[in-house]
This record gives sequence, structure tokens and C-alpha cells, in this order.
Amino acid sequence: MAKALEQLKIEAKKDLARAQTLEVLDGIFRTYLGRKGDLTLVLRSLAKLPKAKRKTIGSKANALRDFLMQEIEQKKTGFLKKEALRLASLAQGKWLDVSAPGKKIETGHLHPITLVQRKAQEIFQSMGFEIADGPEIEDEWHNFDALNIPKNHPARDMWDTFWLKEPKGGQRSKVKGQKLLLRTHTSPVQIRYMETHTPPLRIIAPGRIFRYEATDARHEINFYQLEGLMVGKKVSAANFKAVIEEFYRRFFGKDAKVRFRPSYFPFTEPSFEVDMAYNAGWMEMMGAGMVHPNVFKAVHYNPQDWQGFAFGMGLDRLAMIQYKVNDIRLFYGGDLRFLQQF
Ligand code: PHE
Repeated sequence: MAKALEQLKIEAKKDLARAQTLEVLDGIFRTYLGRKGDLTLVLRSLAKLPKAKRKTIGSKANALRDFLMQEIEQKKTGFLKKEALRLASLAQGKWLDVSAPGKKIETGHLHPITLVQRKAQEIFQSMGFEIADGPEIEDEWHNFDALNIPKNHPARDMWDTFWLKEPKGGQRSKVKGQKLLLRTHTSPVQIRYMETHTPPLRIIAPGRIFRYEATDARHEINFYQLEGLMVGKKVSAANFKAVIEEFYRRFFGKDAKVRFRPSYFPFTEPSFEVDMAYNAGWMEMMGAGMVHPNVFKAVHYNPQDWQGFAFGMGLDRLAMIQYKVNDIRLFYGGDLRFLQQF
């Protein structure tokens, strides 16, 4: 019996040394001290022993029981402490306040120029104008020559141009010998469209253009225009006036007031400048006019048969008025504090 107790103690010590969790500790308790535990059975059998043996074995068995209970208790406290520390550090690192209001997820949105461009497109589309497109890198023919602005003509100085360098030994463009440039207006899209379509026609061409000039509150080296062109048998300046007045009323409201001033562009005759009443004064909104016969000739339309009007409005001007922005450069600065207001 004494030997059996020694063996129990050795095994119990081994088990305890291996125990890493509370569950395993509970198991050990049950194995030795549970209702049918190994040591419990020994303790229960003491009564059957003769008196002398009962005393020695009894005290050994009790000592073993006390030892096991103490060991198990001590290990248990150790485990609990460790677990509490683990939870505390977890809470510190990843504290989650389930009652906190949700964070707003930032989403992208359209640029103010895009917003006014879309609004303008919708209005013109509802008046039967189709959207046309052209390249930002243009050749001299489409940007100048075909628009009745010949080489060495002083009118070219109206557009400060970014010319592209000729690539070494390279071909300049599809039109032979043409110098390339960044388009200075959207008017070349008129030419491109007429070269590939027959009249009557009604188009608008929104797009980015480039000017080689100093920047200030009203000037940028690149900005946006929306070109318009209507060609038919009997398209008149009165038609132009009606379309443009309708456009501004639809865009800014029925109180929008516009005026037409005589102006000069090589590709229109007569030419106008359109201003809009703004801030107790007038704001210049677009250049326009009746398509010049030389432009029709350049695209092989017979000027005896066709008439038309053309205009080029600044989309930046529209956005500046619509959103009360007083510096065009803000549209291109990429400052989120500005852009997030739209
Ligand atoms: N292309 C001209 C400009 O950029 C504007 C314009 C377009 C004028 C069409 C008349 C007709 O200044």
C-alpha cells in the first residue's frame, strides 16, 4: 500500500508538470481526487485496514492529498493570472467601442469642370446636338490652316501655341509635312467632323485645350472649351442667338442675361463675342460667328449651298460663375480642401 502511494505521487507529479491549461488541471484533479479518483479510493479503503497500518498509511495518503490539492491550486492561480494579463493587453491594443458612430467612407466624386461639362452637354443634346471628339495633339492643318489662319498670318498670334519638337527623322503626322502642336482651341474638331460627315449637322465638342501663356486668376496654360457647330441650308445668326440664349437660361436660370458684341475670328464672318451679366458687370463667355466660306472650302463643302454658325465657350468660365470661384487655377491645383466642396 505504501509503495502504491509512492507510485501515485510520482505519476501525479509528472502529470502536473505537463499540465498547461485549466482543463488539463481539472482532469488531473478528477483522476486523483475525484469521486472515483485513485487517491480517493485509497483513502476510502483505509477503514478496512488494521489499526496500526491505518495510521501510517492514512497519514501518508492525507499528506499526498494535501500536496496535490495545494499544487493544483497554485497552478490554477498561475494560469488565471496569465490569462488575465493576456486579456488586459489585448484590450489595450485593440479596444473596440461598439457604440461609437460609424466612420464615413470616403468616395470619389466628379470634378467641378466635369459637372458643368455634363450639364452643358445635356442641354445641347436635348436641342439635337451630337457630341464629337478630336485629339489633344493636333496638326497645323486642323488647328490653323483649315480654319483660315494661314502660316505667317498675324492672326496666328491670337493663340500662343505649344509646338511639339519634330522627332528625329520621324514623320510628323498623317498629313504630310505637318507640324504638331497641343491644340489651342476645340475648333479643329469642327474641321475633323466636317471632313468625315456631310451636312446638315449639329455637333458640340467639349475638350481640353492648351495655351502657352503666363498664368493668373483668369488664365491657365490648359483649360476646357466646348465647341459648337451647326450647318444647314438656312442656318442664320438669329438661330445662333436663339440657341445660345436658350442654353444660358437652361444653365443659369431664366433670368440669365446675355449680350452679343462684334468681334474678329479668322474662321467666322461676321464674328461675335458673347457676354453674360455677372456681378453688376459683364463676363466674357464665348467667341462665335457664322462659318467663314474658306472653312467650308477647306472641307469641300460648297459655301453657296451651306451656312452655319460656330461657337467656342470656356467651360471654366461656366464653372467659375456656377460655383462662385474667382481663380481658375483652383480647378487645376489638385487641392483636396477645394475639390471636396463639390
Ligand atoms: N476658337 C475660338 C477661340 O478659342 C473660339 C471660337 C470658336 C470663335 C468658334 C468662333 C467660332 O478663341
